[in-house]
Amino acid sequence: MAEGSTIIEEARCRTVFDSRGNETIEVEIETLGGFGSAAAPAGASKGRWEVVSYPPGGISEAVKRFREQVAPELIGLDAIQQETIDRTLIRIDGTDNFSRIGGNVAYAVSLAVAEAASTSLGIPLFQHLSGTLTRRLPFPLGNILGGGKHAGKGAPDIQEFLVSPLGAKSFREGALANIRVHKTLRSLLEKEDIPFFGGRGDEGAWAPALSNEKAFELVSKAVELVSEEVGFKIRFGIDVASSSLWDEKSGVYVYHHERSKMPGEQIDYILGKISEYKLFYVEDPLHEEDFEGFAELTRKAKDCLICGDDLFVTNVHRLKKGIESKSCNALIIKPNQVGTIIGSKETVDLAKARGYVPIFSHRSGETTDTHLAHLAIAFGCPLVKTGILGGERIAKINELLRIEEFLGEEARLAELRIG
Ligand code: PGA
Ligand code: ZN
Repeated sequence: MAEGSTIIEEARCRTVFDSRGNETIEVEIETLGGFGSAAAPAGASKGRWEVVSYPPGGISEAVKRFREQVAPELIGLDAIQQETIDRTLIRIDGTDNFSRIGGNVAYAVSLAVAEAASTSLGIPLFQHLSGTLTRRLPFPLGNILGGGKHAGKGAPDIQEFLVSPLGAKSFREGALANIRVHKTLRSLLEKEDIPFFGGRGDEGAWAPALSNEKAFELVSKAVELVSEEVGFKIRFGIDVASSSLWDEKSGVYVYHHERSKMPGEQIDYILGKISEYKLFYVEDPLHEEDFEGFAELTRKAKDCLICGDDLFVTNVHRLKKGIESKSCNALIIKPNQVGTIIGSKETVDLAKARGYVPIFSHRSGETTDTHLAHLAIAFGCPLVKTGILGGERIAKINELLRIEEFLGEEARLAELRIG
C-alpha cells in the first residue's frame, strides 16, 4: 500500500432522491487510493428518540453546514480510523442528537469514509470493518404484506408481516424462498374478494385493503405452501410499529380494522397471535415508552423474538435501560438512528454481550446503496431486514449474494436458534 493512500483528500456532498422521491444527502469521500460514497435512508415511522435527520432549515442548511463546517475537518484524516472520524463528527456537531449537522449527514460521512478506506485497501467493506475471518451471512427477514404508515387507507393496521427462511442452507436459497412466498401471497390475494391490483407499500410488500385477521390467515397459508414446496422451515412475524397506533391522550392503541385496545389488551392480543400463528418475531408490539409492557411480553412470550425498534433506536443508553427492565430479547439496528458506524457498533456489542439478537435493518425510504449488506455481516447480525422486492431492496439482497459467492466454500449462514 502506498503511504498515505488512505488519507482523505476530498469530501463533497449533493442531494439525491430516495425511494419515496424525497431528497436525501449523498456524501463522496476521496483518498489518494480510493473512493467511497453513501446516501442516507429515511424513516416514515421514526422513533421519538432517534437523532435529528437534518438541522433547522432542512436539507439545504445541512448541505451548507457540511461544506463549511464538516468537509474542511475531514481533509487530512485517515479513512481507516473510523473511530476518529465518528468522534470528529460528534465534536463538530456538539449536541447529543446531531441536531446541528444532521444525523443523516453524519451517517453519510461515516459510511462513505468506511467505503473509501475499504477501496483504498482493496478489500470488501465488511472485511475492512471486521476482518478476514468473518464469514457468516444473515438470514433474510422480508416484508411481504403490510400497512400502517407504509401504505394507504384500508391496508392492515399492522405495518409489516415478515417472513424468514430459517431452515435454508444458504443465503441464496433463503432469499429465493422469501421471493416465492411473496409471489404465492400475490396469487392468494388475487383469489380474495377484494380490489387488488398488485399495489405495494413503501418497502415492496403487498398493501391491499385487508383486515389484520385476514392478513394473518393469508400470510400463514403462503408460508405453509412455500415451506412444503421448498422442503425447509419458513417462519413469519410482524412489525406492529405500535407507536403509530398509540394515542397518548386516550391511552389506547387505535386500530381501524378492529376495536381499539388498552395496553393490557394489546399484550394479550399479541400473545394470542404468537401462539396461534407460532410467530417467531414481533417488533414494536407496544409503544416506544412502555419498557414495562415490553418486559411483561418478553417474560410471557414463548419461543419468540420480541424486538425493539422505536423503543431502542439503536441507542446504547436506551438499550441499557431495556436490559435493566428486562425488555425484549432482540433489537433493530439502523445506523442513521444514531448517526455513526461506531455508535451502532457499540449498541450491537452490548446487545450481544447481554444475549439480545441484533437485527440489521433498512428504512422505508431507501437508496440503492448496498452498505447495509456489508454492515449486517460485519456486525454479526443473524437476521437482516431489507425487504424482498423493489430495486432499492433487491440491491441489498443482490450484494449479499455477491458476498456469499465471494466467500465461496467459507460462506456460512448465521446461527440462530428460536423455539
Ligand atoms: P421506518 O420504519 O419507516 O421509520 O423506516 C420501518 C420500521 O418500523 O421498521
Ligand atoms: Zn420497526
